[in-house]
Amino acid sequence: MQSTVIAPSILSANFAKLGEEVDKVLAAGADWVHFDVMDNHYVPNLTIGPLVCEALRKHGVSAPIDVHLMVEPVDRIIPDFAKAGASLISFHPEASRHVHRTIQLIKAEGCQAGLVFNPATSLDALDYVLEDLDLVLLMSVNPGFGGQSFIPSALDKLREARARIDACGKPIRLEIDGGVKAENIAEIARAGADTFVAGSAIFGHPGSEKEPYAQIISRMRAAVDGVRA
Ligand code: DX5
Ligand code: ZN
Repeated sequence: MQSTVIAPSILSANFAKLGEEVDKVLAAGADWVHFDVMDNHYVPNLTIGPLVCEALRKHGVSAPIDVHLMVEPVDRIIPDFAKAGASLISFHPEASRHVHRTIQLIKAEGCQAGLVFNPATSLDALDYVLEDLDLVLLMSVNPGFGGQSFIPSALDKLREARARIDACGKPIRLEIDGGVKAENIAEIARAGADTFVAGSAIFGHPGSEKEPYAQIISRMRAAVDGVRA
């Protein structure tokens, strides 16, 4: 069984203090940094690129950086992210003409490769590429924005992905992204996820009272441990 990974999405962090925010959340017990890249084309929002990834590395961040590409096309930007210090790079099959080639490109650049499935995208592509992947990422919201509600059908899809990964027998991570909170994370773990992205649940909504990062991360981890022990 893969260890539990909590990956705060910096999409909900304070971008004016990004280095500090990442240091704080890692010191508070986070395992990875989830890095959401949006292009105002594949998704209707625009965020951060390789320069920001590189800046975090230069700032001293040594934890894995989990780059979630919501851009189209994807291939041109992959080498830039690899050079900028990405550890894992995930992309959406709809955003690549040649999914198998894109996976090979990520690996040739020295990163781990992930494939991301939107709420209405079937897992069929896994029939052909699962063995080549290091990570399967299921979206439990439509990509583009933080702070949305978890879409319940993602639970059945997690169970299906879990069964496929177990049958394959390789150490492939199953990650969930969107609407993950301390309140629903146990149910999500029970459905088979081992890697949990959480943005607004950790960094807070603008204007809301913030729970200390260490406290919310340990509440999440305890809920997951209760299920995965
Ligand atoms: C959405 C992003 C998510 C998002 C999650 O497109 O991929 O990573 O930041 O945010 P929350 O946890 O607030 O749903
Ligand atoms: Zn994401």
